[in-house]
Amino acid sequence: MSDKPEKFIDENGLRLDGRRVDEIRPMKMEIGVLSRADGSCYLEWGKNKVLAAVYGPRELHPRRMQKADSVLIRYRYNMAAFSVEDRIRPGPSRRSTEISKVSREAFEPVVLTHLYPGAVIDVFAEVLQADAGTRTAAINAASVALADAGIPMKGLVSACAVGKVDGQLVLDLNKPEDNYGDADIPMAMTSDGEITLVQMDGDVTQEEFKQAIEMCKEGCRQIMEIQKETLRNKFTKLDDVEVPDE
Ligand code: CDP
Repeated sequence: MSDKPEKFIDENGLRLDGRRVDEIRPMKMEIGVLSRADGSCYLEWGKNKVLAAVYGPRELHPRRMQKADSVLIRYRYNMAAFSVEDRIRPGPSRRSTEISKVSREAFEPVVLTHLYPGAVIDVFAEVLQADAGTRTAAINAASVALADAGIPMKGLVSACAVGKVDGQLVLDLNKPEDNYGDADIPMAMTSDGEITLVQMDGDVTQEEFKQAIEMCKEGCRQIMEIQKETLRNKFTKLDDVEVPDE
């Protein structure tokens, strides 16, 4: 028997979790949570829990994999076995390989890759608890972890999904909306609104697609504020540290 809800949006315009159609789930981030990583970020977004770690830039071995004119970015999205209701089989899957590829590509336009020829930057995104939107959650955490590692970037990348339920577009899908909705469009963008990732599952009209981009831009703008605030909190605290006189 399907658990599909009869209605996703009630007569007051509120969703099953009480949000308005254009509202994102509560998000909080903590930076520098792993002492061995060059940069790290722990993110909670609704019931999603994701840990991102960045290592590098460091020399890439074997040397034959090095790029002569730029750094190589490697991105590994992984769901912990215990992150979902049914256990996830450990190791890469078609889904995680695809998500890792598109997420890496979401960062390539912003990282100043030419600065570190021959080097590699490794990004690990570990999903500890999954509740819809984990690829976008992982990108949001990875973006802050890259900044925490001091990787030179044109700016941050923020990500969010727009979907369609009950014939209406909704921002930041929750689990039932993701499972049973009519469309799921995860996107990532820069602070200038340049889209660095867009995927689509399901059907929307051209007009709805344009609206989805606008909704996503607003969601990403709010997420970027949280990302910047997280970074500001850490780095302003560092500014406050008194440097002893020589
Ligand atoms: O997580 P995201 O929305 O980026 O990707 P998805 O493939 O659309 O998956 C939606 C949700 O389904 C995930 O966030 C998980 O909560 C769940 N899922 C699962 O339970 N088992 C899987 N093997 C994959 C996803």
